[in-house]
Amino acid sequence: MTLARNTLYRDDLLAGQRILITGGGSGLGKSIGQRYVELGADLVICGRRAEVLAQTAQEFQDLLGVRIETHVCDVRDAQAVHAMMDAIWAQGPLDVLLNNAAGNFLARTDQLSTRAFDAVVDIVLKGSAYCTMEAGRRWIAAGHKGTVMSILTQSALTGMPYTVPSAMAKAGALAMIRSLAVEWGPYGIRTVGVVPGPFPTEGAWKRLMPQERIGEAPIEHGVALRRVGEHHELADLCVYLISDSAAFITGEAVVIDGGRWLQGAAGASAYHMQQWPDSTWDSLHPKKDKA
Ligand code: HXC
Ligand code: NAP
Repeated sequence: MTLARNTLYRDDLLAGQRILITGGGSGLGKSIGQRYVELGADLVICGRRAEVLAQTAQEFQDLLGVRIETHVCDVRDAQAVHAMMDAIWAQGPLDVLLNNAAGNFLARTDQLSTRAFDAVVDIVLKGSAYCTMEAGRRWIAAGHKGTVMSILTQSALTGMPYTVPSAMAKAGALAMIRSLAVEWGPYGIRTVGVVPGPFPTEGAWKRLMPQERIGEAPIEHGVALRRVGEHHELADLCVYLISDSAAFITGEAVVIDGGRWLQGAAGASAYHMQQWPDSTWDSLHPKKDKA
């Protein structure tokens, strides 16, 4: 597992930056965390499963020779988030919070139990808010600048059937980014987001790409660039957005989806038209030889 390759970034770009990634033990959070560590950051990760956090910490130590800090914490539990932030600050203030932890699954909304709705909204909306408020109030009290970045989804922009709790919660997280950009901007706190398209991970694919979807058009057909994303592509955007190079960006969420949502907006026929042979286009042109 290595993300290193040709890069725009200096090896020590993030030296001195103390960064918490919620849900950083797996999937995209883990890949982004690895990139941050490669660039010199002091990384802290949290999640509910101690063994996942420990395994990631061990991998980073073996691969990069760096110790990272781990905290078992369910971000739905406001008291637990408060205690985690106290423990983190006891070792030194954070500079960056990355709200990455999420829950999602496919379900018909009319069949959802309230517990199912809460399970997703409490992680994505409330969990992000609890972490953000705990970091923000410490930064403001100490006059410390900081950046909050949240991982959103396309559904925050467009809505999405069968993942309504996630869509609602991510839209709320986007509202938080835009609201706090103004409220906390004068303190030097930036709030930004990224909107990833499909980046295969075990967690997302297990829940959102079940066997029943086999036989559907391949996911790549719905992406203008005709492929899914690679983790290093998202990780490098997440480096840029927390770096000094992005110091004047706040309240903004950057889409990184290979043109997926625009391909969807263009409608299903766009994909078919992209397969038309020249003869079809010629038949529509008034001056082309119809003989
Ligand atoms: C309907 C479901 C369900 C499902 C769970 N529930 N799965 N209802 N359909 N598929 C219901 C349960 O029956 C229960 O309600 C309630 O939800 C809580 O379930 P628990 O299993 O007790 O909850 P918990 O252990 O807290 O797990 C939370 C979770 C789970 C969200 C349900 O999936 C999880 O831990 N997810 C974390 C990782 C994750 O989701 N990663 C994917 C992120 S991808 P009742 O009423 O029965 O008690 C993403 C966007 C990707 O966000 C976009 C890709 C293009
Ligand atoms: P993932 O591997 O399942 O990541 C989710 C992480 O969140 C896990 O490490 C999980 O660890 C943690 N988590 C879940 N509930 C938590 C809670 N209550 N408290 C603390 N941590 C919790 O899935 P992923 O695909 O990498 O998703 C990462 C982020 O990217 C999410 O915000 C997701 O919405 C977003 N995203 C992903 C895609 C994609 O294509 N993969 C696309 C768009 C957006 P524990 O289970 O141990 O707690």
